[in-house]
Amino acid sequence: MFDTVAVVGATGAVGTIILDLLEKRNFPAKNFRLLASARSAGKQLQLAGKTITIEELTHDCFEGVDLVIASTPDDTAAEYLPSAVKAGAKVIDESGYWRMNPDVALVVPEINPEAALNAQGIIASPNCSTTQMVLAMKPLHDAGKIRRVIVSTYQATSGAGLQGNIDLQEGTRAALDGADYEYKAFAHPIAFNAIPQIGSHKEQGYTSEEMKMVYETRKILGDETIMVCPTCVRIPVSNCHSESILVETEKPISVDEAKALFAATPGITVVDDLDASSYPMPSNSTSSDEVYIGRIRKDLSNPNGLAFWCVSDNLRKGAATNAVQIAELLARGV
Ligand code: A2P
Repeated sequence: MFDTVAVVGATGAVGTIILDLLEKRNFPAKNFRLLASARSAGKQLQLAGKTITIEELTHDCFEGVDLVIASTPDDTAAEYLPSAVKAGAKVIDESGYWRMNPDVALVVPEINPEAALNAQGIIASPNCSTTQMVLAMKPLHDAGKIRRVIVSTYQATSGAGLQGNIDLQEGTRAALDGADYEYKAFAHPIAFNAIPQIGSHKEQGYTSEEMKMVYETRKILGDETIMVCPTCVRIPVSNCHSESILVETEKPISVDEAKALFAATPGITVVDDLDASSYPMPSNSTSSDEVYIGRIRKDLSNPNGLAFWCVSDNLRKGAATNAVQIAELLARGV
């Protein structure tokens, strides 16, 4: 139980869902405080039956706060969250800034809850495309030790913030009308297109989004030997990231074994009947906290390979839900 919980970035795409989850899941806290930029200060939001006035995020605003759940741009997290730690609060951060810092725990509660419980400073929530993949990898890694993963993502425009979805809708309308549209969240038209770049060029021809999938996966699973080859692509779908994943394990895993392992993992739902055209898609996975897996099949080119399709709501398990689950874990203390 925490006395005072502050949600930083309460007005954002993920922050709004965090508020909704705190209320729906009856998060145990006496007081909630909502923080955002000076642009939003003074506006009011509803949470747990109370009207709460949004306060401006400052270095001094964390006095008396026990737990911070933050979802802001990286530079805001970099600047302000150390002040929250100094003020004695537990801090859960959804931004990308702190994740690979060696003093920061990077947590998916179903995988490494002890990292959150033992953390001294900031606890980071992983990148959305990493979270759903590592949750799928965990039972296979435990059963057969994953040596290598080849993953291609099909990522929704909501991952680029509220402006991403505005660009999808307005850009599509303009394209159908034969009109011009100036994209703000994307470097190329997203309407009727697929863009094989998310983030900046990081290293060796891989983007920052792709390298997050490499480094964060190893940190969360606690295994620096896992090889990951990612390709991240933005597609014209408003919500839910889809991933085509091929894992190679030291010990071969059969399709039936994999189905049973996935089905027994909390947070994973198997939807897999090709003959009935039944598999996860963004349209049947949105607004859910689950990671959905289907199209489970052997790699035809390698007896140690297993291929599957994985879809999850990037704003929920990929962001808000994972952060709130970490908060619930801290509140329980076990
Ligand atoms: P605000 O709405 O006042 O700009 P999004 O998911 O839409 O990108 O939202 C990011 C969240 O981070 C919003 O709540 C936004 O608040 C907040 N934010 C962005 N920049 C700052 C800042 N410099 N200081 C405090 N909060 C910020």
